Amino acid sequence: MNLVIRDAVEADLPAIIEIYNATVPTRMVTAELEPTTVEARLPWFRDHSPHEYPFWVAESGGRVIGWLDFKKLLPRRAYRGTAELSVYVDENFRRRGVGQRLLEEAIARAPSLGITALVGLIFGHNEPSLKLFQRFGFERWGFFPAVAQLDGLKRDLVIVGLHCEKPCSHGPADRPISVEATPNVYAPQARSYSDCLHLMRTLMQYRQEPVHSALLKIRDKYSMLHLDVLILIYHFAKICSGAILEIGAFVGGATIAAAFGVHDSDRQKKLIAIEPGGSVKHKRLGTRNILRDLERNLARQRVSKMVTLIKGRSFNPETVSAVHQALGSDEIGLLILDADAGKRRDIECYCNKLVDGCWMIIDDYCTADSNVKSAPSRADVDALVASGALESLGFYGWSTWVGRWRGK
Ligand SMILES: C[S@@+](CC[C@H](N)C(=O)[O-])C[C@H]1O[C@@H](n2cnc3c(N)ncnc32)[C@H](O)[C@@H]1O
Repeated sequence: MNLVIRDAVEADLPAIIEIYNATVPTRMVTAELEPTTVEARLPWFRDHSPHEYPFWVAESGGRVIGWLDFKKLLPRRAYRGTAELSVYVDENFRRRGVGQRLLEEAIARAPSLGITALVGLIFGHNEPSLKLFQRFGFERWGFFPAVAQLDGLKRDLVIVGLHCEKPCSHGPADRPISVEATPNVYAPQARSYSDCLHLMRTLMQYRQEPVHSALLKIRDKYSMLHLDVLILIYHFAKICSGAILEIGAFVGGATIAAAFGVHDSDRQKKLIAIEPGGSVKHKRLGTRNILRDLERNLARQRVSKMVTLIKGRSFNPETVSAVHQALGSDEIGLLILDADAGKRRDIECYCNKLVDGCWMIIDDYCTADSNVKSAPSRADVDALVASGALESLGFYGWSTWVGRWRGK
């Protein structure tokens, strides 16, 4: 089964609650005795945060078929590193490894979330869940006999636990390795390796999805970027909170990938693209009129209405003000920089509108040929990473840096 594990959004809540409610009458999984509602569970859902106590859904073919959440085990500060996990799988998709994948992911990501111990609270008669956790090395840490009353039966509660590895630090091991010395080697500067691995795995999962072939066609017709980068743009546009700003749309490849992501997110998101126009000599994508071809390609892919096209250079005051006007009170959740070497300049123009954790795609980060236009871009990015304003999640495709904004 092709599974994508991603952060849950509020639009997923009806599916999450449906999966949860289906378990209530079984008296196997939850101690809740009556079905609940989306409204009642909204505060609980909002109590999660992708960087501390995340809430993930497992999606297959665009359908939410399972979920996992982390929550505080106990409120006192000393227990911050211990999280309780809950895993729920749609009854039609059980015994297909969905719970296993979610749990595997939770164990892998826990250290980067600052979590040092995971626990599960499981009814003593819920054999399948006890076995699942056991398989991942969870041990029995507690036993509360006959503490739950389920339809007149007294049931036991078992607490299972697992200590996780220490989180990776910003120590010397995380420093960038020389790209010149080892071309195309993935150089993690990120908070933790597990965040990078999570992203790489997400990318691999998309290879099995229909959107992969759709984006391959878009790449061939309209983009200078690598297919993996278009897939990441699609993914971030789908999961991000906030608007999307693209600088350097050219004839629309990345713009279209982002528009597809917005479409598949089932949420309203502003997609703003900046392009000054001109002509380009290129074997595959040469054009005498960039703006004309851009507008034509967006129309062909039926995404024109989703895109606010701002014609001009990113740093011109009129462009900056047009972007602010288009954004209104919205902030930017995905920033795509693929214009020229002025990466720092462009970030400075728009950083006051970036959400904390804004996804960033920055092209021309590195290349085997050290002479060229990527050198200034790379210096800008490295300086921002060193200052802590950017968090690196590695680089992809030919020369595209991927990461998150941490400048607030
Ligand atoms: C490498 S292309 C972008 C490729 C595109 N992202 C894709 O998917 O193929 C760079 C584009 O940035 C535009 N550009 C250059 N400087 C710019 C600036 N300061 N602001 C906005 N766009 C700019 C160029 O006109 C060109 O179309």
